[in-house]
Amino acid sequence: MLKRREFLALTGAGGAAVLAAGALPALGRGRLSDKEENIMAYTAKDYSELIGTAGFSETLLKNHFTLYQGYGTNTNKVLDILAQMLKDGKAATPEYAELKRRLGWEFNGMRLHELYFENLGGKAPLDPNGKLGKKMAESFNGVELWEKDFRATGAMRGIGWVVLYEDPANGRLINFWINEHDVSHPAGCRPLLVMDVFEHAYMLDYGLKRADYIEAFFRAVDWTAVEARLK
Ligand SMILES: [Fe+2]
Repeated sequence: MLKRREFLALTGAGGAAVLAAGALPALGRGRLSDKEENIMAYTAKDYSELIGTAGFSETLLKNHFTLYQGYGTNTNKVLDILAQMLKDGKAATPEYAELKRRLGWEFNGMRLHELYFENLGGKAPLDPNGKLGKKMAESFNGVELWEKDFRATGAMRGIGWVVLYEDPANGRLINFWINEHDVSHPAGCRPLLVMDVFEHAYMLDYGLKRADYIEAFFRAVDWTAVEARLK
């Protein structure tokens, strides 16, 4: 069962207010069984094979893997707490609503890291005459302009992600800035290439030189994995 300190750690300052309002599900009364808590729980994937990737130190990658695991753990926790509150008849409370908002942040933090790690570690460059290269050229008036736009989006001030999305409605490719983990995802689109530009993704190796990190990212992209995500 979730302990109060875990709940505080999960929700931070906002969580303290939630606790003060007495929102924590009553321990031991109608609580979810272990079986219920474990239904479809998310499990962290192992990306240790990325250690050794040029431009990414082992320390940076190991720290990043640990951060990623935290998002999965917290996604499971938020889902468990919400299920418990629902069971206890607390769905119409502000605390339930705030955890519902939190879910998108934790879940996307988990999933974006998986997409990011899974589009790293490649050897071959992008083939401009391949299916992806042609779609980029079509959507951006040339692969060079796609790359210029992706890099410029990554250089924006702020913390978040750059994601090349494919809109299945018309096949168009668009680079999106995702604020933090959850703001500005285009509904129904497919993520193709994902780049983390939170400071933890590069500061240990590059300090404030985000452009140098983006350069290293481009050298490390697994274009085969990216192309395989195309519809
Ligand atoms: Fe990250």
